Amino acid sequence: MKIGLLGHGVVGGGVTAVIDAGASESVRNLEVTNILVKDQSEVTDGRMSTNADDVLNADIDVVAECMGGLEPAHSFVKRALEAGHSAVTSNKKMLANYFEELMETAEKNHAVLLYEATAGGGIPWMANLRQIRRIDRILSFRGIFNGTTNYILYHMDLEDRDFDEMLKEAQDLGYAERDPSDDIDGFDVRYKVQISCASAFDQIVSPDDIPAFGIRFISAKDIAWAKSRGRTAKLIGRAAMNEKGLQAYVMPVFLNNSDYLSRIPSNLNGIESVSVTLGPAGFIGQGAGSLPTAHAVVQDLISISEGIEEHRHFEKSAVANGEVNGVYYIRTACPEAFTDITDEVICEGTLITRKTGLNAVLEKIAQCGDEKLFIAEVAE
Ligand SMILES: NC(=O)c1ccc[n+]([C@@H]2O[C@H](COP(=O)([O-])OP(=O)(O)OC[C@H]3O[C@@H](n4cnc5c(N)ncnc54)[C@H](OP(=O)(O)O)[C@@H]3O)[C@@H](O)[C@H]2O)c1
Repeated sequence: MKIGLLGHGVVGGGVTAVIDAGASESVRNLEVTNILVKDQSEVTDGRMSTNADDVLNADIDVVAECMGGLEPAHSFVKRALEAGHSAVTSNKKMLANYFEELMETAEKNHAVLLYEATAGGGIPWMANLRQIRRIDRILSFRGIFNGTTNYILYHMDLEDRDFDEMLKEAQDLGYAERDPSDDIDGFDVRYKVQISCASAFDQIVSPDDIPAFGIRFISAKDIAWAKSRGRTAKLIGRAAMNEKGLQAYVMPVFLNNSDYLSRIPSNLNGIESVSVTLGPAGFIGQGAGSLPTAHAVVQDLISISEGIEEHRHFEKSAVANGEVNGVYYIRTACPEAFTDITDEVICEGTLITRKTGLNAVLEKIAQCGDEKLFIAEVAE
């Protein structure tokens, strides 16, 4: 199967390395024949070109998009699908924003679009959801979908270090971008939850509909409080589907130390699905990195070469978090906005709510307008 590869950075370079190495019969059935790079100075191989037409119009069977960003990634994938080529993408931001359109385009053109690498990186998360759903209905999923924030939180907890210092270390190690917003503000996890909702429940929601809080304003004091109560801070994306509709949100959670997700170390991801007959099933591994992510992209390419059929019918849905209740830890400059739901004051400006509906808490957060407010759910 001839592959046109769009983008040859961390992930794309890994894809070429894995396929060129040809370590198994399945991989040897694949060949990267054309590669799009951005700049003439990056052309180091006869397969490379800076002209997208040289890849998209070439004699290829499948396109693998590993460029990142919304455009031209979206237009290139759409163009490939319209030409009847199946496609694979590692680009969660692009897929989350154009999921419905691209799936419809794939279906109309008898093509397949796979996206294992977009959530959970190297972990076979989408493949396992697909496998579980052959028998079972998925009820919910939750997990650590972002390795950068797990790295930061893990070391803050282990070494009693503060957020800014750990962010800088993660950036120096190449785990965090120079502009870390997508990771630390929870947007990256929001894209992954949105894509996972489609895979787990066939529900398509707008990413902006999923409330997302990150760890930008977490401090060593917050972690110390969690530790004093036998808890560990993790950034958790979660969703559930029941007769009340689809619930989904992203928020730091002070997990009980008896919860195995509290022990996912360093920059690893850990995701769990719960389904009717299987019950909980957890998947732990590298959520990013050149070869682990390439592993996921190449798995999708092998699935396409083996003739996978992936035509499902998705429903447009709204997130309805009305049934979500929790106890929340809030540190804010305007604690008075939360007086009527406060159960315990930890110190000035830091409080624990009594069990309260998430939507009511979100309303109070919007009203108080404190841009530096930190919130974490205190797990039951
Ligand atoms: N890195 C990971 O561990 C990981 C894990 C899971 C998913 N992903 C996703 O995979 C995608 C790629 O990530 P990455 O880490 O491989 O990024 P990257 O290292 O920046 O690679 C992207 C490559 O695509 C090139 N590119 C961008 N626009 C282009 C264009 N118009 N024409 C030709 N080439 C273009 C970039 O060139 P320039 O550098 O010159 O701009 C770069 O070489 C992203 O969507 C990311 O979210 C990454």
